Amino acid sequence: MVEPMSEQPEILRIQGIHKAFNAHRVLAGIDLSLRACETVSVLGGSGSGKTTLLRLIAGLITPDRGQIFLFGQDIVPLTERELVPVRRRIGVVFQGAALFDSLSVYENIAFPLRLHTRTSEQEIRARVAELLKRVGLPGIEGQLPAELSGGMKKRVGIARALALQPEVVLFDEPTAGLDPKNARTICQLIAQLRRDLCETSVVVTHDLQCAFAISDQIAFVHQGEIIEVASPEAFLHSSRPEAQIFVNGAFEQTSRLRPVEGGISWNSVEAA
Ligand SMILES: Nc1ncnc2c1ncn2[C@@H]1O[C@H](COP(=O)(O)OP(=O)(O)OP(=O)(O)O)[C@@H](O)[C@H]1O
Ligand SMILES: [Mg+2]
Repeated sequence: MVEPMSEQPEILRIQGIHKAFNAHRVLAGIDLSLRACETVSVLGGSGSGKTTLLRLIAGLITPDRGQIFLFGQDIVPLTERELVPVRRRIGVVFQGAALFDSLSVYENIAFPLRLHTRTSEQEIRARVAELLKRVGLPGIEGQLPAELSGGMKKRVGIARALALQPEVVLFDEPTAGLDPKNARTICQLIAQLRRDLCETSVVVTHDLQCAFAISDQIAFVHQGEIIEVASPEAFLHSSRPEAQIFVNGAFEQTSRLRPVEGGISWNSVEAA
């Protein structure tokens, strides 16, 4: 039986994170926590610092101030070398999939296994096949990224991020640039990973529909701070004007998402 969320261990805790680039203050006191099997979506306007937050969590950049506890350990003071075992436990799906163009799908997904483990070729073959099946693309090992559609590339990127069985997965704009059908497929895949593998994830997105469909919490970033953390339903009725503007803007862009009595109606998760 799955444990109630409040009894799941805390995977991530961010406290008082500040980050500026030169004199440009981007994050100014971010707090956030995430338990195992939870999904938090980070929403916010363009340039509000969402990708910066993901890069901080992945240990790719360091904050000017504050603490980032991953699996109970503050990663901020760690050296590059000390970060290696922590990074192994994190899967990152970068915006635009970031596949190696000259490598086949097989080699792309095998890459982290070769880099971090001594897995035999036979085991790699089985693992790649299993991962491709999981993301709904069985048998495409031999293809090159250039031969894939945008949605397929994203799915291969997700397969690669899952290769080392990470304990937390960070998604940067997983549905950006995709047509609605492909966006829905990716969103369903993230929801399915959570259901099947109890995946813990941080999803940075502009896609309110997807965020509502997959998240336990919505965190809204505005002017360098998370000004609202709420369940999707509570976020819809946020009293913060900035959040209302964001939600209303998303409603104007789509007619498929609408608040209804007692909850949120999102036709497109279930609909084919
Ligand atoms: N390495 C960097 N050097 C200088 N400025 C940076 C750097 N990385 C990010 N920034 C600046 O920090 C701000 C936040 O950028 P970030 O990419 O985190 O925003 P975002 O919320 O992900 O935006 P988007 O929704 O457009 O992806 C931007 O003004 C950006 O120009
Ligand atoms: Mg970004």
